[in-house]
Amino acid sequence: MTNVSFFDITIEIKKEGVAKMKHLIDIKDLSVEEIDELMKVAKDIINHEEKYSHKCDGKKIATLFFEPSTRTRLSFEAAMMELGGKALGFSEASSSSASKGESVADTIRVVGCYSDVIAMRHPKEGAPLVASLQSAVPIINAGDGGHNHPTQTLTDLLTIQCEKGRLDNLTIGLCGDLKFGRTVHSLITAIARYQNIKLVLISPKELMIPEYIKKDILEKNHMEYYETTDIEEYMDKLDVLYMTRVQKERFFNEDDYVRLKDYYILNKEKLQQAKEDLCIMHPLPRVNEIATDVDNDKRACYFKQVKYGKYMRMALILKLLEVE
Ligand code: NCD
Repeated sequence: MTNVSFFDITIEIKKEGVAKMKHLIDIKDLSVEEIDELMKVAKDIINHEEKYSHKCDGKKIATLFFEPSTRTRLSFEAAMMELGGKALGFSEASSSSASKGESVADTIRVVGCYSDVIAMRHPKEGAPLVASLQSAVPIINAGDGGHNHPTQTLTDLLTIQCEKGRLDNLTIGLCGDLKFGRTVHSLITAIARYQNIKLVLISPKELMIPEYIKKDILEKNHMEYYETTDIEEYMDKLDVLYMTRVQKERFFNEDDYVRLKDYYILNKEKLQQAKEDLCIMHPLPRVNEIATDVDNDKRACYFKQVKYGKYMRMALILKLLEVE
């Protein structure tokens, strides 16, 4: 013990103190029952917000965003503030010591001394997992490259549950960049665990869903799915239409992006065959893929989805910090 530094002692104490510490790296880290429980808490927060306003007094969330974000970072910070806690962090790698060459592992060990939970976004797939191996406090993956985005999925599940009243017996269209869109990858992984889900995967040929998702999720779970390049082909069958933007930052070549970026533009005309109770979602930011004339349609749920995101993140923070 004598030659252990103060820093190591702090880490050890924190590790012991949170023996059951849980991270959220992949949506599969949560069971269906845990997701149900989180949704129950989120709905209770929606109905009785005042009950929760001091639950995290004295607690801090650090938001470490090595990649741009508006909703995810601010919703984590707002969520912690609504619970009575505080937020600190950075919104771009260039303003952190990553720009001096510091490793993710070192950054996490340091930030764990200043905060009780860390939400982290990184362009490299797997970076939050690496961080969790070094961390003395819970790590939340707020998006890693084109891989996963579990808290957007929690938001999406709560939106579907609240707007459709169920998470089973649904035909869900996923449209746009299914190759690089991490929200789509996490949502498919999560929704595969519910009953009688049919998926319609709508994308240009170049941006089809990756083979590993087909093999490991769709085929393993014997899911019924259809692939098409035509957004209108199955429109009349859909209960949910989840639009996504073409992920410019993941393209190797600007010309490919320019060619594909406006492949789908959902407008009133394309919705003519859609069900009256279709739920139109989008994780946002929207670029061009939903025309603004859809915003006033009662089926447009994407701005409500943003609100659900804050409540779901409040519920998640309470769970990870083991607050009753
Ligand atoms: C998404 C993301 O970052 O993956 N946005 C979000 O978190 N709401 C979707 C996107 O950037 O296209």
